[in-house]
Amino acid sequence: MSPLRRRTFLVLAGGLGSMAGSGVFAGRAAASVINGELLTSRIELPEPFSVPLPVAPLAKAVRQADGSDRFEVVQRAADVEILPGVRTRVWGFDGLFPGPVFTGQAGRPVVVSVRNELPVPTSMHLHGGVTPPDSDGYPTDLVVPAGWQHHDAMAGGHHDAPAAGRQLTELTKEYRYPLDQRAATLWYHDHRMDFTAPQVWRGLLGLFVVRDSAELALPLPSGERDLPLLICDRAFDEDGDFRYPSLDPELIDPPGVEDAYMAGVVGDVVLVNGAPWPELEVDAARYRLRLLNGSNARRYRLALRPGPRDGAAFTQIGSDAGLLAEPVELDAVPIAPGERYDVVVDFSAWPVGSTVTLVNTLGDGDTRWVMRFRVVREAADDSEVPARLADPDELSQDQAVAHRQFSFRRTRTSHGGHAWTINGESFDPETTLATTRLGSVERWRFISDVHHPVHLHLAHFQVVARGGGDPHPSDGGWKDTVDVRPKEPVDVLVRFRGYPGRYILHCHNLEHEDMAMMGNFQVE
Ligand code: C2O
Ligand code: CU
Ligand code: CU
Repeated sequence: MSPLRRRTFLVLAGGLGSMAGSGVFAGRAAASVINGELLTSRIELPEPFSVPLPVAPLAKAVRQADGSDRFEVVQRAADVEILPGVRTRVWGFDGLFPGPVFTGQAGRPVVVSVRNELPVPTSMHLHGGVTPPDSDGYPTDLVVPAGWQHHDAMAGGHHDAPAAGRQLTELTKEYRYPLDQRAATLWYHDHRMDFTAPQVWRGLLGLFVVRDSAELALPLPSGERDLPLLICDRAFDEDGDFRYPSLDPELIDPPGVEDAYMAGVVGDVVLVNGAPWPELEVDAARYRLRLLNGSNARRYRLALRPGPRDGAAFTQIGSDAGLLAEPVELDAVPIAPGERYDVVVDFSAWPVGSTVTLVNTLGDGDTRWVMRFRVVREAADDSEVPARLADPDELSQDQAVAHRQFSFRRTRTSHGGHAWTINGESFDPETTLATTRLGSVERWRFISDVHHPVHLHLAHFQVVARGGGDPHPSDGGWKDTVDVRPKEPVDVLVRFRGYPGRYILHCHNLEHEDMAMMGNFQVE
């Protein structure tokens, strides 16, 4: 069976079935805004705000020499405590869920040596990284377990890409990240062909913070008041392990999820830095929150309840690929899978003693909650949000040397099923959707049937139009992922800088991605 044929699905059950009539996915919860089907936990869940927010552990460089930092990590299974008193088997970088936070300096290369001790292949991708193609985590550039090639041959080798474009590395691979880019909150995650969604769900994800001297010179909140918040949803089984509707729980063959979950897998527990609906005590002072939506399919609209005494709840200072030119006041932060929002919240805008809840206005039941802050004390605060944050390049229309359109939609296949496609095509490692020139700027338009968070590897972009009108206030800055909503075309100016080679664009709803909503672009 060819990999492309297997990745189609019938429109029968759950969210997809109900899509046909209404034009939106109707899961059991919050119908029109959730792109996916809710998976419920089969274990007693904790009360929201009953566990402390974990501080994400930092990855430690094993060597700092020759102007670069070297890290060594092991991808392995581990039992961790996520729900109080319950053990959950995860697949984590260094056995952690989420993985350690890497920090790098712009302009100083990082080498990450990844040893795969899992029973399946992996491919590490630095999301937002300007990375040479052989270190980009292309879906068929796999780090395979010892003996896998034999295993693969026995299985007929049919579940990965055709042999041609495929790079197998046994056990350990060195990924090279030049970090020739601005300070930004990047993240890393698995990108194995056909199995990204279940492998990220099991824990192969984490943050990667790039700093630079221009940003360090700003009086932004720092130290303990610079908080990475990795948000993702999960569901738990009765034995405490993650629930996920894989067709093959061993993640070998076949790929894919049960038909009911073809729209995406949405969990009923919201985790922040790996803890369910945690709580954090804060000073009445400014905090920088580096928000990442690391969920497979769930979108959030984040707000603070109650709101501040005056002013907007959030001051956005950065987006996916670094600081904005100027701060933007937002009452709510819409965040789709893969996106990052760098915001400052001034907790002195609430009386000491207040509890301030970070809510998801798109959720319902307990998925309305994300985490809670308790403002516990007055404190000195010499931080500021400057009126001018950075001088990022601004692209203009007339720089665009080509215009292209990419349509993200469900397409009927010749076999009578449906597939998630870009311009009507399922992913094929051998074909190229666009060939671009290194250093050039192009105008790309993304259109979609339902919500698709569109992501490009290598190339960052600026949103110039949404739904034919102006971008939304939250669309500012340099981005690598943009939420494309039903029938609301998004136009971006993309700059192809970095390295020539083969890269991908894809939907960052990971179930859609695994079902081949992905395509190559070639930079020459
Ligand atoms: Cu975070 Cu190819 O993606
Ligand atoms: Cu990416
Ligand atoms: Cu999608």
